[in-house]
Amino acid sequence: MKEIVPAPPAIVRNAAAAVQALFEKNVIPSYARFDLALSHGAGSYLYDVAGRRYLDLGGGIAVCCLGHAHPAVTEALLEQSRKLIHVSNLYYTEPQGRLAEALVRLLGPGKVFFCNSGAEANEGLFKLARKFGHDEGRYEIITAFNSFHGRTLAGIAATGQEKVKKGFEPAVPGFRHVRFNDLDAVRRAISPSTVALLIEGVQGEGGITPASPDYLFGLRRLCDERKLLLFMDGVQDGHFRTGRFQSFQRIIENAEGRTQVAESFLPDGISMAKSLGGGIPIGAFWVRAPYADLLGPGSHATTFGGTPLACAVALRVLEVIQRENLADNARNVGEYCKTRLLELSQKHPRVIRSVRGLGLMIGIELASNIPGLSEDGKAVSLQFVGRLHDAGLLTIPSGTQVIRFLPPLNLSRQEAEEGIRIFEKVVGDLD
Ligand SMILES: Cc1ncc(COP(=O)(O)O)c(C=O)c1O
Repeated sequence: MKEIVPAPPAIVRNAAAAVQALFEKNVIPSYARFDLALSHGAGSYLYDVAGRRYLDLGGGIAVCCLGHAHPAVTEALLEQSRKLIHVSNLYYTEPQGRLAEALVRLLGPGKVFFCNSGAEANEGLFKLARKFGHDEGRYEIITAFNSFHGRTLAGIAATGQEKVKKGFEPAVPGFRHVRFNDLDAVRRAISPSTVALLIEGVQGEGGITPASPDYLFGLRRLCDERKLLLFMDGVQDGHFRTGRFQSFQRIIENAEGRTQVAESFLPDGISMAKSLGGGIPIGAFWVRAPYADLLGPGSHATTFGGTPLACAVALRVLEVIQRENLADNARNVGEYCKTRLLELSQKHPRVIRSVRGLGLMIGIELASNIPGLSEDGKAVSLQFVGRLHDAGLLTIPSGTQVIRFLPPLNLSRQEAEEGIRIFEKVVGDLD
């Protein structure tokens, strides 16, 4: 006889502690979570289990590009789930083909592989590089210090931050790190084994540091001269967050006197995830035409890659972004936030050291000894984010000193003003 498992007791409303207790007992404690149990969302706002409202300028770490509970996402999910959710990649499905076509149109001649996360998209690029260099015995990939490329074994080997590697040695071989935005450092690091470079256009987890146009142009030239693949990790800074589809397009758009170079600039591979599905897990990597067939039949696969469900949602997300011109919104609202934050940094230099970023990817570097923050041993960024929570604003810490705004791309000017008002009050109280 089938065993009947009793239903778990209902979680009592207003009981964040009950939710946290479930986690403590049953969920592997690999995340240091904030003391918030969230229940639902609408647009740019989130609500906790006690019904308290927060303005969400974190966007689920650059994922919820249309905000929460967007009707277009819900409709696409419902429509496609009634039709077909998954069949495997043994067969052709229209949404995957159409999404690949849309991404190729946005980037240039090439092809796309679909997967489920940013780390997995980067893994695909690592395999592509190894395949490319295999017959010449080349396998080494150069990445930057302070970069972040995911938490898989190769992802942490590629990442230029010691903290993600500690305890998981020995590292996957074949990665070398150099200073970001330093072309000579890359030139010096190239060895006979080098096959590719991988960089973020705007380092995200590393604290919101954009690459310079000269660096990008220089890397392209160097890769062409030395027969190396140039990869860009667009997982966090991609999907219109900076005001263009990919951050490199935004970075080089005003490269003075070099319009022609800017127009023809393309990396050889780009990884994507996060905002691509607006909250539904989907990752992808695009490969430029000359290399697009290197990963032939049987060489790479993933069960859930490019399901009709994920692709239908991603297509709808793209449609909304383009129809509502959210790239321009990211640019304009981002510029407003950055200007106001820069003003705040001038008014409160004891709290804010600097403000950086492009579009709706903004980093605020905090001073190291903020008068009002004194919890021993706790990073300033975490303490500051906690204060913002108390004031009803969600943001994302980056390391010990920086906090990030990575809000929905449809954040309105009024919502941005509200966010800055809350931020200003917290900064003022700490100074
Ligand atoms: C630039 C970059 N690459 C890769 C990743 C890894 O993505 P995922 O967490 O989806 O594996 C992240 C995640 O923050 C990222 O910011």
